[in-house]
Amino acid sequence: MNDLLNKINGFGVVPVLVLDDSKNASLAARALIDGGLPCAEVVFRTPAAEESIRIISKEHPQMLLGAGTVLTVRQVELAIAAGAKFIVSPGLNPKLVKHCQSTKIPIIPGGMTPSEIEAAIGLGLDTVKFFPAEIAGGIDMVKALSAPYPEIKFMPTGGINIDNLSSYLNFNKVMACGGSWMAKKELINNGNFKEITRLTKEVVSAVKKLRGV
Ligand code: 3PG
Repeated sequence: MNDLLNKINGFGVVPVLVLDDSKNASLAARALIDGGLPCAEVVFRTPAAEESIRIISKEHPQMLLGAGTVLTVRQVELAIAAGAKFIVSPGLNPKLVKHCQSTKIPIIPGGMTPSEIEAAIGLGLDTVKFFPAEIAGGIDMVKALSAPYPEIKFMPTGGINIDNLSSYLNFNKVMACGGSWMAKKELINNGNFKEITRLTKEVVSAVKKLRGV
């Protein structure tokens, strides 16, 4: 794993931010930082993603900031220009992966089947996003996939919350979990940033407890 993936591994959880309005970007990032988790993946599912990444990277440079739901080379370029330090994609798109590799930005692409994982290995990767985690078989599926591919690390995302987090993080092939549960779009849109900080603190203490630190 490279340095950036090591840092993500250290956090244990990557908050997924769906920002409908870039005016909430800085406050959402602040809420995560105040909760002790200076890390986020802003997803390109809303037109506000690019501007939100720009704002967060300017106002909170200490944050480890990535772009998620990246589907095109153009979005990779926009994300990098806005300040994203890593790219996450729901599927495995070789063109996108090769572009990230030539631009030297880490990418964590989706991989939830043996064929996708083998394609990722073929592209020289060692980490995939296991998405949508709970629906795709949860931790049992991650463990089953790990058997033939012991060198692969997973970032399960989708349907993860404070109650099932430990089942994933207890498995040593899980680099970190992604999820929106501590910063749900409703909380952001209602300006409930205090609740985001509270839920984030809960995540941070759960990760510490699980890792015995
Ligand atoms: C993602 O974009 O990676 C997932 O949709 C996040 O999944 P969650 O909202 O179930 O946490």
